[in-house]
Amino acid sequence: MTEHVIVNDAGGIRTIRMNRPDKKNALTLAMYEAMTVALESATANDAVRCVLIVGVPGAFSAGNDLADFLNAAQSSGGLNRAALRFLPALVRCGKPLVAAVSGVAVGIGTTMLLHCDFVVAGTDARFSTPFVSLGLVPEAASSLLAPLLMGHRRAFEFLVMGHPLNATHAKDFGIANMVVAPQDVDAEALKAAREIAALPPGAVALSRGLMRGATDELLARIDQEAKIFSECLHSPEAKAAFEAFFARKR
Ligand code: COA
Repeated sequence: MTEHVIVNDAGGIRTIRMNRPDKKNALTLAMYEAMTVALESATANDAVRCVLIVGVPGAFSAGNDLADFLNAAQSSGGLNRAALRFLPALVRCGKPLVAAVSGVAVGIGTTMLLHCDFVVAGTDARFSTPFVSLGLVPEAASSLLAPLLMGHRRAFEFLVMGHPLNATHAKDFGIANMVVAPQDVDAEALKAAREIAALPPGAVALSRGLMRGATDELLARIDQEAKIFSECLHSPEAKAAFEAFFARKR
């Protein structure tokens, strides 16, 4: 287990807190693993009515730990297995997912939100997907979901050109439901989770299932993206981008 993910159940709500503030909640293998277990066991647990994913003030998540990407780039490895398990667990989660986003939401810190049912953003939230400038490609089925959500041109600007979105734009683009003061993000998200948890669970599950449809296409796209992503990790441009990140403060 890792102390960087804190899981807590109360009042039918499972809260999964990413808690690695010194690294802006960059996700390690152990964090993916802990989050996967929390999502999978939430699905199997009738007492859990809703899952709430939260970060720390100023950081929802800075995305995948770039040290792990650099390790993969320097070895024969591809995307790590823990990350590969996390995404299907997110797609298959049988409980509504609410997210509370304060501060940075980079890479998977943003793309995981495309699988959430209700997202609260702080006015300090900044959503970015710098995959291409890192020599990579979009993941988490974002290449499928983002164009559906915001249209091809806006998705291209976001996913390929890497232009970040502030909270207002994220709401306009359909990534967030509401924008609140940074100090109110967790409380507003908890309020939404409580509202969902108080609804009849069977009808919630059936309605959510109807709205989401079959997950096969999402899971197939995640696999397709992961294969290309893993190849890109070994490209000289990706390796140079990861090295440049860690060299920037020296
Ligand atoms: N992987 C590993 N470490 C990361 C990280 C990541 N994705 N994001 C941040 N960190 C670390 C930094 O190296 C720094 O560690 P240090 O204090 O030991 O040097 C610490 O977290 C704080 O980050 P810093 O860059 O100083 O904070 P900031 O507020 O100036 O910028 C970000 C925050 C998120 C904008 C910036 O850190 C960043 O761009 N990170 C990379 C994001 C990324 O590319 N993710 C992968 C997407 S696929």
